[in-house]
Amino acid sequence: MSVHANARKVTTHTLQEMKRAGEKITMLTAYDFSLAKLVDRGGVDVILVGDSASNVMAGRDTTVPMSLEHMIYHAQCVERAVDRALIVVDMPFGTYQGNSAIALESAIRIMKESGGHAVKLEGGAEIVESIQRILTAGIPVMGHLGLTPQSIYKFGTYTVRAKEEEEAAKLIADAKLLEEAGCFAIVLEKIPAHLAKQVSDALSIPTIGIGAGQDCDGQVLVLHDMLGITTDFSPRFLRRYLDLESQITGAVEQYCEDVRGGDFPNEEESY
Ligand code: KIV
Repeated sequence: MSVHANARKVTTHTLQEMKRAGEKITMLTAYDFSLAKLVDRGGVDVILVGDSASNVMAGRDTTVPMSLEHMIYHAQCVERAVDRALIVVDMPFGTYQGNSAIALESAIRIMKESGGHAVKLEGGAEIVESIQRILTAGIPVMGHLGLTPQSIYKFGTYTVRAKEEEEAAKLIADAKLLEEAGCFAIVLEKIPAHLAKQVSDALSIPTIGIGAGQDCDGQVLVLHDMLGITTDFSPRFLRRYLDLESQITGAVEQYCEDVRGGDFPNEEESY
């Protein structure tokens, strides 16, 4: 077990110490009170209130429609449940690109209104000014490189990124830029494992991988995917730890049968 597993609260500094000590960082998403409580009890180091809520909570195809209000609402629900994990909140599309003053205002709203501990932004050199401005307010920033789902209409697909030399070189340069700017960690999404290792070795801040191989300093998965609640999404990197889809539909079927057959409620379940 990690020497940090009993730490009262995980901070950005804890994560940096974990990298120095060679301890893997665990991160999962959560969007609501009840599941966030279980995830925190399970001992995860970081809870990401991801804009993947757009897919798994709201049933949308992309993360693009998420608003600041949506993210603040989900982060408030999570914050009420969490005792130990560091809570990182995604800044949604359109709240930080191209205007660092708006980026700072959006990040301040997230911190004040949700109680989250840090924000995450997607992108490299194009958004570094926004990152620097947010950091001036003392708000910790997590970066996100590789497959950045808010840019889906630019990429056109959710396939592996940075397989070609030019894109890989830009990703390495962006990672260094984000570290120099002051990010406390960087998510690396869906890039070749050898590239993620190269980036992780080159940085003193932790990398957290999703579809980026085993040499990242930590790993993240979308909670609903790893619990087997969402089953229409099966990328190679996803390990399912439960099959909740069939367990939940099975329980619902049983309940319907019991009610329809007059078996529920029985005498002991009545007043
Ligand atoms: O929104 C999200 O869930 C994410 C993870 C995939 C890293 O950004």
